[in-house]
Amino acid sequence: MMLNPSSCFFYSSLLLLLTAAAFVTVLATVTYDGRSLIIDGQHRILFSGSIHYPRSTPEMWPDLITKAKEGGLDVIQTYVFWNLHEPQQGQNNFSGRRDLVRFIKEIQAQGLYVTLRIGPYIESEWTYGGLPLWLHDIPGITFRTDNNQYKFHMQRFAAKIVNLMKSANLYASQGGPIILSQIENEYGNVEKAYHEQGTSYIRWAAQMAVGLNTGVPWVMCKQDDAPDPMINACNGMKCGTTFKGPNSPNKPSIWTENWTSFYQAFGEKPYLRSAEDIAYNVALFIAKKGSYVNYYMYHGGTNFDRTASAYIITAYYDEAPLDEYGLVRQPKWDHLKELHAAIKSCSDTLLNGTQSIITLGSQQQAYVFRRSSKECAAFLENSGGKESTVKFQNIPYVLPPRSISILPDCKKVTFNSGKVSTQNNARVRAMIPQLKFNTAERWKVYTEAIPNFDDTKLRANKLLDQISTVKDTSDYLWYTFRFNDKAPIVQSLLRVLSQGHVLHAFINGVLVGSGHGTLDSRSFVTECKVNLTNGMNVSLLSATVGMPASGAYLESKVAGLRSVKVQGRDFTNQAWGYQVGLQGEKLQIYTDIGSSKVQWGNFQSSVKPLTWYQTTFDAPAGKDPVVLNLGSMGKGLAWVNGQGIGRYWLSFHTENGDPSQTWYHIPRSLLKSTGNLLVLFEEETGNPLEITLDTVIYK
Ligand SMILES: *[C@@H]1O[C@H](CO)[C@@H](O)[C@H](O)[C@H]1NC(C)=O
Ligand SMILES: *[C@@H]1O[C@H](CO)[C@@H](O)[C@H](O)[C@H]1NC(C)=O
Ligand SMILES: *[C@@H]1O[C@H](CO)[C@@H](O)[C@H](O)[C@H]1NC(C)=O
Ligand SMILES: *[C@@H]1O[C@H](CO)[C@@H](O)[C@H](O)[C@H]1NC(C)=O
Repeated sequence: MMLNPSSCFFYSSLLLLLTAAAFVTVLATVTYDGRSLIIDGQHRILFSGSIHYPRSTPEMWPDLITKAKEGGLDVIQTYVFWNLHEPQQGQNNFSGRRDLVRFIKEIQAQGLYVTLRIGPYIESEWTYGGLPLWLHDIPGITFRTDNNQYKFHMQRFAAKIVNLMKSANLYASQGGPIILSQIENEYGNVEKAYHEQGTSYIRWAAQMAVGLNTGVPWVMCKQDDAPDPMINACNGMKCGTTFKGPNSPNKPSIWTENWTSFYQAFGEKPYLRSAEDIAYNVALFIAKKGSYVNYYMYHGGTNFDRTASAYIITAYYDEAPLDEYGLVRQPKWDHLKELHAAIKSCSDTLLNGTQSIITLGSQQQAYVFRRSSKECAAFLENSGGKESTVKFQNIPYVLPPRSISILPDCKKVTFNSGKVSTQNNARVRAMIPQLKFNTAERWKVYTEAIPNFDDTKLRANKLLDQISTVKDTSDYLWYTFRFNDKAPIVQSLLRVLSQGHVLHAFINGVLVGSGHGTLDSRSFVTECKVNLTNGMNVSLLSATVGMPASGAYLESKVAGLRSVKVQGRDFTNQAWGYQVGLQGEKLQIYTDIGSSKVQWGNFQSSVKPLTWYQTTFDAPAGKDPVVLNLGSMGKGLAWVNGQGIGRYWLSFHTENGDPSQTWYHIPRSLLKSTGNLLVLFEEETGNPLEITLDTVIYK
């Protein structure tokens, strides 16, 4: 951002004011009991929303937080992304999108609280679940269990983050906004796989975390046996009905992930969760004396660069109340805002009143909170699939199917979860094309060289695991061999078994076949018709689409080729030559400097696989979000001004025959007004002439 001298002055005086304000900040105590978190002695019902700082840009943060606050949230929840902050062991990066302190200070400046989910294993559909890949190479390590090497590094990182927060006075106990921290993540899903070591690990993790002395409580989610004083919390879509509750009467009922939608993998359709369904479940959770609900995600954002985990698309929870670009998604945002207001209007009664449950019908009941003869609040629930009229305190109420009416005074309905009253209901998102790249002159091309066995330096007499060989420095690993046999093999099938995720097979530089797996079935077989004669070069390009992020024993997960056969002949254990990554990646030809290191050619009408494309463009006028429509492309990676804007994969269709994601976000802050460099690496034979640059509006 360019600041002129007068705005600089403005900023520094603003800073002075903020600093002055900080001196009068009262240090807050955060405790809890069986009803709720208690902040400065006050019981609180808290609405929280997940916004992950690296999935947007620092320039977007203030607006996202403002919209979250206007939507009635009290808390912003984020994970901490270890592999972003420590990409190499001992290196630290807390700048740009990684500036955790700036993110939290922005939330504080707008008067909201923070829940900090340190993990450091986070899953989050983030590459390797947030763990740095270098951990994989530590001898004797097993992740997330009672293993000294893992515990050492986990504790070191957790302490580093806690100290960073403390040194910036960010815990509520220091006058900062952080009211809760989380250690580990959904460990209950995998604990059994680690047997007793899992149980002792989780006890250790709880103790270690508490020993970091943050001055605020800790939670563990999906962890029914969370040791005291850890609060066990629920994650899921329907915690109102599925949560067994706190594992101690003096812990509050907390929902750390209320899923507003679901993450999406390539080949899958978006998961649409209606505003009505979300509101119903949240209202039910509060009616059952829940006191903290977090929307996962409130803003999903973008998996920039190669940060998405295996098969996950670049857009993250685009269906959340704030869409991928940070625009308000209706009617979700309004409906939840109204829900929050209805609950807040009677929160004292909910928190202090005595709850009773009254049957109104076979599938209808009232959750009533009464504090005195005058003070009363009620939730009338219809869990049945049909509209129902019930009588509550002698007054009839019409309840839509599967809905909850909120009566803050036990008389007047101020909100019903099944009735979306917003006039914004009909607003739809539209992508408005601003710029076409439809002439050959606009593009320059550079063809990635296909390496032969002779070109490779890394050799092995077996098929190497891609994850431990590439270490997530690239999506790509070339497996090559030379067919050395006087007797040709004609009209045969080359049969390649891969453990993930994508394969392109070349013989003497010609593509003979491709294949890929899916999120649920990563292994796949590619068969291609071939003739092999003496001296022929077989070059197999294996691509990962993100590191795995879930499941027990993550360190043992593998990718890449498993066996290679041609009609009964097994080439699996013979001399293989490897190339890690692409030449274009090594030269960083997607940057201004790197791009000048190679000779770019003119666009040819016959497009070849493994081609780099580059062009330049001017930023569209205005402030609307900017996206690339890559609908005409196949699969690959995209960069703008040297920054990876994510993986694209249009050729992998959903069962409806559509790509999972057509538009790819270019944050405004990445753009200069003119001469922006766009570079694509296309694995297949997509047509760049049909790409358009669009802006996004709701109309
Ligand atoms: C009632 O609720 C308020 C607000 O949470 C709290 O400060 C107060 O202590 C409660 N009073 C009683 C009598 O429980
Ligand atoms: C740190 O991260 C920022 C962006 O998040 C990046 O631009 C920068 O190059 C990184 N610094 C180092 C030393 O890797
Ligand atoms: C293999 O060779 C046969 C002739 O022997 C030819 O008909 C066929 O097209 C060739 N197949 C491939 C994939 O090149
Ligand atoms: C295989 O690659 C080597 C080294 O690049 C080359 O000399 C040879 O001609 C290639 N073989 C064929 C059949 O093209």
